[in-house]
Amino acid sequence: MPVLLNCQYPQRSPINLPWLRQIAENLLTIIGRIDAELSLLLVDDAQMRELNRQYRGKDKPTNVLSFPQGGGDDPTGDYLLGDIVISLDTAIREAHAKKITAHSHCRTLLIHGLVHLLGLDHERSEEEYRLMLAQEKFLAQELKNTERRNGMINLAINVDHVATLRQVRGGKEPDPVTAAGICELAGAGGIVVHLREDRRHIQDRDVYLLRELVKSKLNLEMGANEEIIKIALQVKPDMITLVPEKRAELTTEGGLDVAGQKVKLKKVVAKMAKAGIPVSMFIDPDPKQVAASREVGATFVEIHTGRYADAISAEIADREFELIAKAAESAYETDLRVNAGHGLNYLNTPRIADLGMIEELSIGHAVMARAIFVGLDQAVREMLALL
Ligand code: PXP
Repeated sequence: MPVLLNCQYPQRSPINLPWLRQIAENLLTIIGRIDAELSLLLVDDAQMRELNRQYRGKDKPTNVLSFPQGGGDDPTGDYLLGDIVISLDTAIREAHAKKITAHSHCRTLLIHGLVHLLGLDHERSEEEYRLMLAQEKFLAQELKNTERRNGMINLAINVDHVATLRQVRGGKEPDPVTAAGICELAGAGGIVVHLREDRRHIQDRDVYLLRELVKSKLNLEMGANEEIIKIALQVKPDMITLVPEKRAELTTEGGLDVAGQKVKLKKVVAKMAKAGIPVSMFIDPDPKQVAASREVGATFVEIHTGRYADAISAEIADREFELIAKAAESAYETDLRVNAGHGLNYLNTPRIADLGMIEELSIGHAVMARAIFVGLDQAVREMLALL
């Protein structure tokens, strides 16, 4: 095992540990040292202060420390790369100040620590400082490329729009069930449909057939109403996503107000739990809604990316992106699994995909719009290539 991850942080880790280990393993691959052993230790400020005092004579905590192993005549030197210690307290504090996520900052600290292990030290000279910056930039870019190639995020395709086209003529074509098959063949990791109360696009027949056909994962979006709940319990999708539903809206326009209807939603979650169906709450990037989703027992939240996607300026997009990043992080911290979607397209998706905590993206309109010109198989593959 090349990466030995030891979390001695006294509370539950606010960082997704398997994710961090994967980042460390990817870095070893990038530097061509997959055979080497890297020890990664996560501590709090008190532990870090002690290490900093003991080994560097500095009686204060710091964000990251590196301890190279072996080298010189040591026969284990080639195999043991050394230790990187990160203080999660400092990492979180710095991330807040920089207005970035703690995950993103830990990734940066890990890269910084690794470059130290490789022998560079920014405190030695101006030249080494510049070399270190260049190395860090290179590794960060390579890491992103690796993550994209590895497809760490699942792409779930929403086929509602195919049904919308069928309903325009009230006939049989195009069939969203066929579309789902093509999406899966192209590599999609899930199929999403929204069975609306007014049946404006997806019909009951589609949902039952999709349950038979979908081999990846069927996610049924629905309002929390009795009739649809009954259908969900019969169909048993792999998960449901609860969304708000208004008859006059063009598409799902805002997130679900979980905080405002906790009693009702808790009952729906409990019913689904009895049938073994995990529930996701489609919420705006709002910590209050994240906390409420946790309280009602949801397994996932799907963070509404619509306001980010529709932003009319770069500043608004940045602001909305930060809200999404913070919501994803607070969801992760409270043990919720995190999905995201709405309005994502071929330009705005990579930034969301890079967040590090998101398991799945739910994308419909952009893929279907592109499919009209390049074909559905190609449109799905192009989106997958971006992830
Ligand atoms: N997630 C949810 C909960 C949705 O309601 C929708 C739209 O149906 C999507 C994701 C996909 O949005 P888009 O079609 O804009 O990609």
